[in-house]
Amino acid sequence: MTVREALDAAVPAIEAAGCDTPRLDAEVLIADALGVDRALLHSDPNRAIAGAEARVISAGIRRRVAREPVAYIIGRRGFRHVDLVVDSRALIPRPETELLVEVALELPDGARVHEVGTGSGAVALALLDERPDLAVSASDASPPAAQLARLNAKRLGLPLTVDVVTGLPEGEWDLVIANLPYVRQDEWDGLQPEIRGYEPREALVSGADGLDAIRSLVADTPSGTRLALEHAPAQAEAVRALLRAAQTRHDLSGRERVTVGLAG
Ligand SMILES: C[S@@+](CC[C@H](N)C(=O)[O-])C[C@H]1O[C@@H](n2cnc3c(N)ncnc32)[C@H](O)[C@@H]1O
Repeated sequence: MTVREALDAAVPAIEAAGCDTPRLDAEVLIADALGVDRALLHSDPNRAIAGAEARVISAGIRRRVAREPVAYIIGRRGFRHVDLVVDSRALIPRPETELLVEVALELPDGARVHEVGTGSGAVALALLDERPDLAVSASDASPPAAQLARLNAKRLGLPLTVDVVTGLPEGEWDLVIANLPYVRQDEWDGLQPEIRGYEPREALVSGADGLDAIRSLVADTPSGTRLALEHAPAQAEAVRALLRAAQTRHDLSGRERVTVGLAG
């Protein structure tokens, strides 16, 4: 089998399963199985695929046809300048969450930042990678997620401490950042199969209006502490109402995505 033949078989299979980006998915899975850059698939479509490689490709395509996210299949996801290990222990970091990192990048030298609900560690690690002068720590209510964040910190050689805590740990922070669960309970059944079937529900859903975790974090945060909270665009007004001097930032799609303000 050649690269072209593998693509010709994979793309229609993934498309028939209802995936949004079948060609991209097939290319990523095949390139990953071959250990090459995606560009090589185009420059060398007649490259022969060995038996062992073909088996890895078939297994990956089967998983994608079952709607498993590509990031879980290859076990990696890039976020800003870091490459993270991702698996079912934590949410796959989303591009819009980079906005939380951007808010924290504005801090002065040596500022203390804590991330609540770190998941894979994406936000805290991307921040430490770009601003080693900051004192960054992180926590998550989920022990498996904290374990994954610690693994990523170790692989990246970044000095991130990750504690297992629900809500905000004891401490003093110049900025608390959080992408906590904010999906409404009644939204869950309508989410894509990639999310419902594979990502941890407790990382996504938070009560009837999706704001339980955010409300509880704001209530637990010492008065006057600055918070930067990711939320759904439709929740922006409700989140502003929880904070003092609140201002909402827009993501790359122009939607209200992160609100910054003071607790208490
Ligand atoms: C939406 S995921 C975000 C993960 C990661 N920060 C990211 O952006 O990719 C939310 C994370 O918050 C954690 N979590 C949920 N409720 C929490 C709480 N009350 N306190 C601390 N962590 C919580 C979940 O375990 C999950 O890892």
